[in-house]
Amino acid sequence: MAKLRSVKGMNDVLPEDAVRWHRLEDTFRELVARYGFGEVRTPLVESTDLFVRSIGEATDIVEKEMYTWMDKSDKSLTLRPEGTASAARAWIQHSVGGQHPVSKWFYVGPMYRRERPAKGRYRQFFQAGCEIYGDPGPFVDAELIDLVVRYLSALGIQDIEVLVNSLGAGETRERYREALLEYLRPHASELSEDSQRRLERNPLRVLDSKAPQDQAIAENAPQILDYLDEESAQHFEDLKTALDAMGTPYVVEPRLVRGLDYYTRTLFEVRGRGGDLGANAALCGGGRYDNMIKELGGPDTPAIGFAIGLDRLLLVMADSEPKPSLDGFLVVRGKELRGQALAVAQKLRDAGCRVDADLRGGSMKSQFRRADKSSAPFALVLGDAEAEAGTLQVKELATGDQQELPIEQVADAIMRR
Ligand code: HAM
Repeated sequence: MAKLRSVKGMNDVLPEDAVRWHRLEDTFRELVARYGFGEVRTPLVESTDLFVRSIGEATDIVEKEMYTWMDKSDKSLTLRPEGTASAARAWIQHSVGGQHPVSKWFYVGPMYRRERPAKGRYRQFFQAGCEIYGDPGPFVDAELIDLVVRYLSALGIQDIEVLVNSLGAGETRERYREALLEYLRPHASELSEDSQRRLERNPLRVLDSKAPQDQAIAENAPQILDYLDEESAQHFEDLKTALDAMGTPYVVEPRLVRGLDYYTRTLFEVRGRGGDLGANAALCGGGRYDNMIKELGGPDTPAIGFAIGLDRLLLVMADSEPKPSLDGFLVVRGKELRGQALAVAQKLRDAGCRVDADLRGGSMKSQFRRADKSSAPFALVLGDAEAEAGTLQVKELATGDQQELPIEQVADAIMRR
């Protein structure tokens, strides 16, 4: 019989690794709470339509990466490939705009894209993201970019590059599209197959194509910043001034377009420059999407957000000293005491201690071996004499130092360490 394994590109996280995930998530939650973000939790499954209409038909995600199936009721459903569309759907569905002129949401969770798996690229991956509805920017845009930099820095990730660009609003895109098409058409036959196919529908895609022949042509393409409408140009200037004022480092990258169709004006990406992931891996992508809410049937509302790829952060994050996951390990001298040991362990847990015990009834030696292997700094020994006296022998495993303490004092003593 074939061995059962997890689905290709989808990984398990075992308890030892979960500790690092907690650090990523806890740091994110603590930071965004300081800015007033509240958590939104949307279903992992949405109607396919939502993603087609928001992310765009001629994008890699919608064309070839979504996990889509027909439900028994003949409705097309899709595992969410990202969080922005789902959050916007929820924001519209619950008429949040009617109650709050500006809302700030965050999410942490798995996303699904059927990409070719590689280091840092998975089919189930985790994003931590923020979305702000109702503020047209550009100051909130700068604050959001700065938040991402602060988050990465809190994790010890400093070797990064922040790229910013503006896609303009209104007719900018149309005028730029025309100019770009005019430039690209004569090169059409030299483009990659994907880009040739999309050329007329979505020429901006050529700019972020990874195919070397496309990149060579994109090099000399007209730049969108030269086509910005006046208001968008001012918006972009103000964004840069605000970033400068905060001391947030950035680089203007006029060819940055990103692979989703919903963006308008501010666009940004944070790339890591070192670590296991190699140079230029996108750690975070974000931008403004002022038309999406209206296009999905909601009120005309500006919005901006970002999503950070947590799997990728794990690969570039400096390891911190692993924290022990236990405070004490209970060792029981004599099988008959196991019932009493349970009660002692419970008492210590009630007092806030993290305590484990080996209740299989093995020898002292084998119990001490497990205590040593556990991350607990203390072994807590319960024998007949201790049970009688209401005490425990508290042995520090690293030094061998031992003292007998009344059970009521044990929790304090081992947690103080
Ligand atoms: P995105 O650029 O598609 O944007 O993804 C954001 C981040 O998710 C990427 O920078 C990367 O770190 C991570 N990521 C994407 N695909 C994978 C994968 N297959 N494996 C591992 N990590 C991956 C969005 O998803 C937008 N929703 C961001 C946004 C929010 N824009 C506005 N609001």
